[in-house]
Amino acid sequence: MASSSTPFSQFDEAKPSATLLWQAAHYRPRTHRTKAIAFSVLSFLLLLWMISSSRQQPAPDFWAKFPSRPPFPERPEDAQVALPRKSDVSVNDTLPHDLDKTNPHLHVLVPTTRGSRGACRTMTSAMILGYPPPTLIGYGHEKPGATEFERAVEQITRVRDYLKNSRIVKDQDFVLVVDAQDVFFQLPPRVLVERFQDLLRKNNQKLQKKYGYAVVEKPNGAPPDLVQKYTQRVLFGASKLCYSALNSEPGCVSVPESTLPPDAYGWKTDVHPDGHLNRPRWLNPGAVIGQAADLRLIHDEVLRVMERNHSDYQALTQIFGRQEVVRELERLRTVNGVKEWVYGMLGISDAVNIDGISVRLESGHRYEYGIGVDYESQLFFNQILSRNDVEWIKFNNITKTSLLQGQFGVPREHRLLLPEDIAALPNPFNQTRFAKEQTTLPEYNATLDKLPNPEEHSWSNIPLMTNPYSPSVPVLAHLNGDPKLRNVWWEKMWFFPWARALLRRYVRSSHGFDAAQSALLGGQDWWDMRGGRGGLWTDDENWVTLSQVCEGQERDLFDDDLGPWAKENGDPDEPVYNQFGNLVKGKEKEEEELNGDPDEPVL
Ligand SMILES: *[C@@H]1O[C@H](CO)[C@@H](O)[C@H](O)[C@H]1NC(C)=O
Ligand SMILES: *[C@@H]1O[C@H](CO)[C@@H](O)[C@H](O)[C@H]1NC(C)=O
Ligand SMILES: *[C@@H]1O[C@H](CO)[C@@H](O)[C@H](O)[C@H]1NC(C)=O
Ligand SMILES: *[C@@H]1O[C@H](CO)[C@@H](O)[C@H](O)[C@H]1NC(C)=O
Ligand SMILES: *[C@@H]1O[C@H](CO)[C@@H](O)[C@H](O)[C@H]1NC(C)=O
Repeated sequence: MASSSTPFSQFDEAKPSATLLWQAAHYRPRTHRTKAIAFSVLSFLLLLWMISSSRQQPAPDFWAKFPSRPPFPERPEDAQVALPRKSDVSVNDTLPHDLDKTNPHLHVLVPTTRGSRGACRTMTSAMILGYPPPTLIGYGHEKPGATEFERAVEQITRVRDYLKNSRIVKDQDFVLVVDAQDVFFQLPPRVLVERFQDLLRKNNQKLQKKYGYAVVEKPNGAPPDLVQKYTQRVLFGASKLCYSALNSEPGCVSVPESTLPPDAYGWKTDVHPDGHLNRPRWLNPGAVIGQAADLRLIHDEVLRVMERNHSDYQALTQIFGRQEVVRELERLRTVNGVKEWVYGMLGISDAVNIDGISVRLESGHRYEYGIGVDYESQLFFNQILSRNDVEWIKFNNITKTSLLQGQFGVPREHRLLLPEDIAALPNPFNQTRFAKEQTTLPEYNATLDKLPNPEEHSWSNIPLMTNPYSPSVPVLAHLNGDPKLRNVWWEKMWFFPWARALLRRYVRSSHGFDAAQSALLGGQDWWDMRGGRGGLWTDDENWVTLSQVCEGQERDLFDDDLGPWAKENGDPDEPVYNQFGNLVKGKEKEEEELNGDPDEPVL
């Protein structure tokens, strides 16, 4: 590994000095055994002396010196976003009177000024999978003469301001921000939120072992608090590529190693020169999930770094890198030096590489943002350098699932099983019981609403984009690789052949019996309480329909020759209701006068 000259291999040596020591010991001639032992003992004693003397000058307490505590103490993994699954609710159950859902909501933010083909695919797939209506950030606010950099600053400022000022976004709410141009959703929001929380739970246990607790004194002689020093609260997608290949950028060098095994892609893992066999390790800004308060801090800092003319990608790489450098400095301050040395020798140290890194740390500035990345693409799959890392498979095809990892050259192969969280989901093609009788628009039409028989089609026999290396079935794919693949991959997504019917079902579900019941029972498919479906909110709180935004994109979205979306049979301006049955947009057919003020504020 040390002899390789690839741009990335140098980043993978966690402890170059330890490696050198180990080699020196290895090549020592056997005949000088006694001498060698004496030498080892001597150097060990010397080291102990060095460590103990170095410990006499107290290093600054990095945890206390820089603001390190999260915006609020509760952890995202403990928040109850997805409510317990309610299995057998019948029509006649008594519904609770208290309609206030106090648990956090999920918001989906899509920064885009217009309905490009990419943005329409992002939004269509989100809707088909039952996400809350996406909020378009900056829609209709195109700045014709602006440079790309100015547009990026504008978009990020708008996201930040929305997180800060929107009446409906609470600190504890979960927020997913995705790149508008090239994201396809594959799995429903429940899987996203549950996996996010599971990953945080697992990773925070590791961080607790690695960094331990800080003692926080309390006034009036009360016993001090013990708080875990560092936790993960926000996850970005992981990439095989770092923003810059500079070995002086901590965001490329000092960030933790992947959790995948070191030979995940065979013996050339992490050393192949073109990077496609790297284990994803570096932050990619294409998708992020976290609580609003945490994301607000990150966006503030991104904007601050962008004042130095850095792109948002560069800014985030820098922020992640500095967070890890400060954590490492704090760890080195408190670590047991002998243990660290022994672990280094054995190659099991969990130190990150800060050799040759120099960063200027401003006292009193925050470097801790709870940022982590999703190494195994459980949530977000980044396509760049990874186009050959996925295949669409039907999990009930045992021939296929038992051979897949072998075909991809994955060491220690297993048979792949449909992930349990997907197996527990409701059937993706089940029409609600009352679909055919429902009078809600769009009216049921046997041609337009044709879905496959749910008795014969389920999550186990539709093609799911699967990464056999982790292995994982990602919640969403970020197609930041070759743009030519976007059309091909869109048509491979499981919902593509039935996209229009699934989208119609989603729109209808906004005001049907099932939605009402679900909302009343705190249903998990009603996470954004503004209601309205089949359309989009903008950051200035306007409601736009998908047909307004994506007119003319039907061929790219559905490829089914059934005409423009929402006007299939010439029925325009359909009404949209919120969860309390109030009209949000459009005209009510007859009872217009009876229904009170249609402009009354939407929750
Ligand atoms: C609900 O109540 C109605 C009227 O009391 C009754 O006819 C119907 O069978 C009940 N439905 C269920 C599922 O219990
Ligand atoms: C950023 O770029 C602008 C225009 O190119 C320039 O005027 C400004 O001085 C730059 N700022 C910094 C901090 O480099
Ligand atoms: C299962 O997968 C194999 C290998 O790709 C394929 O040849 C076969 O047709 C598949 N069987 C079914 C039932 O789809
Ligand atoms: C259903 O939609 C198809 C395609 O737009 C149309 O030809 C047909 O007339 C519609 N059927 C009914 C009953 O509205
Ligand atoms: C479809 O949903 C109904 C309840 O709405 C349920 O009883 C039925 O089992 C579901 N069918 C399938 C195939 O999942």
